[in-house]
Amino acid sequence: MARKVSSIMARGTLVVALAGGALGIGRGALAAQVPTGLAEIRTHCAECHREVSPGHFDRISEERKTPEGWAMTIFRMRQVHGVQLTPQAEAAIIQYLSDVQGLAPAEVRAGRYALERRPNVPDLKLPDNLNVMCGRCHSVARIVLQRRTPAEWLKLINFHVGEWPYLEYQDGSRDIAWWRIASKQLPAKLGRLFPLRSAAWRAWQHRPHASLAGQWIVHGETPGHGAYYGTALIRRTAADRYGAHYQLRYADGARFDGASDAIVYTGFQWRGTGTLGGQSVHEVYFASADGARIRGRWFLIKHAEIGGNWAAARATGRAEVMAVIPSALRAGTTQRVVVVGRALVGRVNLGPGTQTTVAAHKPYGLILKVSVAAQATPGYRTVRIGGVSTHDLLAVYQHVDRLQVQPAFAIARLGGGTLAAVDAQFQAIGYTEVAGANGKTTAVRLGAMPVTWSVVPFDAAAAQRGDARFAGTLGQDGLFVPSGGGPDPRREFSDNNTGDLFVVATHKSGRGSVVGKARLVVTVQRWINPPIY
Ligand code: HEC
Ligand code: HEC
Repeated sequence: MARKVSSIMARGTLVVALAGGALGIGRGALAAQVPTGLAEIRTHCAECHREVSPGHFDRISEERKTPEGWAMTIFRMRQVHGVQLTPQAEAAIIQYLSDVQGLAPAEVRAGRYALERRPNVPDLKLPDNLNVMCGRCHSVARIVLQRRTPAEWLKLINFHVGEWPYLEYQDGSRDIAWWRIASKQLPAKLGRLFPLRSAAWRAWQHRPHASLAGQWIVHGETPGHGAYYGTALIRRTAADRYGAHYQLRYADGARFDGASDAIVYTGFQWRGTGTLGGQSVHEVYFASADGARIRGRWFLIKHAEIGGNWAAARATGRAEVMAVIPSALRAGTTQRVVVVGRALVGRVNLGPGTQTTVAAHKPYGLILKVSVAAQATPGYRTVRIGGVSTHDLLAVYQHVDRLQVQPAFAIARLGGGTLAAVDAQFQAIGYTEVAGANGKTTAVRLGAMPVTWSVVPFDAAAAQRGDARFAGTLGQDGLFVPSGGGPDPRREFSDNNTGDLFVVATHKSGRGSVVGKARLVVTVQRWINPPIY
């Protein structure tokens, strides 16, 4: 097998050398403009992937995917097919392929959560039997984030059984005629659902990339710590490359500054690496088509499950309220409120039962002092500043009626050796019930509430095993940190420190306690951590 591949490789090299030579003749000017990524593909990939016509390579040019998708394929070219690449060559190839064979914004949307590595998000539901056929080893997001011709989908399926011939006998594939369905039905179906050629990509492909340089207003939320706000200065350092500086604060005043270097793939996919609040982070953000907004999630490099939401908008433009921090005010209190927004001038009114004075104008919005009357009617408030208003960014409440612990179902994983544990971050979202005009009550969302956290066994078996004692510890910021992996001599049968638990949040107010809970399964290590699960 190895010999066969190398003879194909040798022939491939010859063909490409000839084609390259022919191209070189009389094309000196053009050759000088060959993008680095394309030149690297000719050097490192074309020996196996024939350049059928200029810039069009066997297999490589028959599919489109995200930068993460390209990185995973190239990882396999190294790991399985012995390709040797410098980090620079690899980066150039990923950038080039993401630009000429990427996904349009609309094509990325459904699978974005996977790129942002949002923890505990249930996988997407694909039509028919696709989840059963293709979603048992990895997420179907991995599939949704690719586009291929039917013939290429078939080759991918062939590659799966070539690489894992036992595929049909494991992962529950014995309950279905896996190979028959996969080879006969799925290529056409996948080619229809996720086609190589699409109107969205045609429209996006040749659009000039908007520059993201400039001053930005930022707001977001870190589960476990709360909302933050501030400004970003983004400088363009090269084509599709940026350096960013962040001046941010949490609502409690803690500084949350940072800086990052980023590549923007396909004109809109921001992938940054830097620091935030002194910790090393990756940023997976997406710019809007007009380059006026950036949204996404940042996360710790060592713990992708720990991170926060990120939203940025240009600092100049039409007046707009983007966020109110905190998003809920209890009746009978006076507090500092930050209205994050742009061009906020004029009279400030937060609605019935509130009294507001403007304490400061800042580049990211206004700092207010707000008093809420003890008898103020609970419900959402319209925030009016000069000529702009928003309707669902601020609520007033008398008490918390209900707590919803998020995520409702979480998976944490033990650490082991050099492998970091997978933590689980919880937050307790409060709601107050408000009587509507029609006699029905509606739930008004108040945002994350201060609570005390505890764990209890999920059932009698978990109680008998002592899961709540062994599986890990839940901090008062809602962060569950699992114990170490491996046999624990203190447990029956020296069991691993896995566990099945309820996480309980308790909020105390004048009216007594409100409780919310979520399920937490603490399970074994995840040894393989690709960019798209
Ligand atoms: C030594 C030979 C060899 C080299 C060099 C090589 N590949 Fe491959 N490539 C393969 C083989 C064999 C397959 C089919 C099996 C597979 O998908 O792993 C493949 C498949 C692919 C596919 C299709 C994968 C899919 O998802 O179906 C892409 C895309 C690809 N290669 C890209 C590249 C790029 C980019 C490079 C250069 C960085 C490269 N290859 C270099 C041997 C090679
Ligand atoms: C037996 C487990 C298993 C099943 C079932 C499975 N996959 Fe995979 N798939 C994998 C593994 C493992 C990889 C990672 C291969 C690598 O890059 O090393 C992968 C990779 C992929 C990739 C990324 C490949 C690339 O280079 O871009 C896609 C897309 C994909 N699978 C689609 C599918 C589809 C479609 C199906 C259903 C027909 C399917 N998978 C069923 C295990 C599986």
